[in-house]
Amino acid sequence: MYCVRKVTEDLYWVGGNDHRLALFENIHPIPRGVSYNSYVLLDEKAVLFDTVDWSICRQFTSNIEAVLKGRKLDYIVINHVEPDHAACIEEIALRYPEAKIICTEKAVMFMHQFGFHIDDKVIKVKEGDTMSFGKHVVAFVSAPMVHWPEAMVTYDTTNGVLFSADAFGSFGALDGKLFNDEVNFDRDWLDDARRYYTNIVGKYGPHVQALLKKAGTLDIKFICPLHGLVWRNDFGYLLDKYNKWSSYEPEEKGVMIVYATMYGNTEAAATDLATRLVKKGMTNVSMYDVSKTHVSYLISETFKYSHVVLASVTYNLKIYPPMLNYIMDMKALNLQKRTFAFIENGSWAPQASKLMRELLDEMKEMTVLDSEATVSSAMKEDDASSMDNIVDAIITSMNK
Ligand code: FEO
Repeated sequence: MYCVRKVTEDLYWVGGNDHRLALFENIHPIPRGVSYNSYVLLDEKAVLFDTVDWSICRQFTSNIEAVLKGRKLDYIVINHVEPDHAACIEEIALRYPEAKIICTEKAVMFMHQFGFHIDDKVIKVKEGDTMSFGKHVVAFVSAPMVHWPEAMVTYDTTNGVLFSADAFGSFGALDGKLFNDEVNFDRDWLDDARRYYTNIVGKYGPHVQALLKKAGTLDIKFICPLHGLVWRNDFGYLLDKYNKWSSYEPEEKGVMIVYATMYGNTEAAATDLATRLVKKGMTNVSMYDVSKTHVSYLISETFKYSHVVLASVTYNLKIYPPMLNYIMDMKALNLQKRTFAFIENGSWAPQASKLMRELLDEMKEMTVLDSEATVSSAMKEDDASSMDNIVDAIITSMNK
């Protein structure tokens, strides 16, 4: 049975959802599932914009058949070749042998690498090229590294629809909804949208900034991404989030405390610090056990908050491994412009603060506050003043 939704009078969403997949890219947990979006435009020509992951190919082909109602498919526009969108290209090419594939030169190279046999079907396009499908004229805009090098976005100059590839996407299955105004985005979607952006595209902030600059020149009426909701209003809200995330500016003044604890003593020290912060009026504080929180959530929250306290035991004279993994992921994703403070714990040779400082020094525009606390096995009254110093240093730096 097909399941489609109209986006405009002649544009249809023909994608699908996957609730069974546990880990997106086999790394990131997606407890709310994920959608793979694809769109069919019915003009003088029938045009498919991107395909979907292989897992939902059956639903996808039923959806296309239902929309085409026996018409032939003339074109397939491929904005992005990552397999969560491109896995079904060959299947569609087999079912609709007359369809031409419109994509960038690099996309052709990747399709070859994935073993697709599409050579006689390809129409290569580049930045600024346009194509008419009848009433609709589209322009192709290159979007390298958003989030692969071959990526482009396609702008329909006739009705203002932007097919934005991975940009403006989100984790989360649609479950019958399609448009941003059919959900409570702030309550139910923002955290997943941030976690998707920061972990998947976060490394490529400057490239996203370049795309935002180009998008700023377009009269956009709809944003149709490859995952998540279609946006048809409130663009300022979405662009503001994207602007902050891609320029590595925090969304909120607040303190995220990430603690690595083996027996609860470092957690107790982290809780003590949180309590002192709240007593001094900084109530936007959250705590995360680094061993129990998937790193994709930690990364997302680190993009959100202005200040981060790392509280870590020393383990084999090194940083506790899950804490090290988190810091290395932060580095890999090019995170910048955060202010850090440390609490270290060790029973004989605490090293964590020194080692964490060395790693953060290698990253861009990270500030490490001078105040730090060293706990010997468990926090005691004697440690209170160093905790107070951290609190004062955080609050002072926040108010600068
Ligand atoms: Fe959703 Fe870069 O693929």
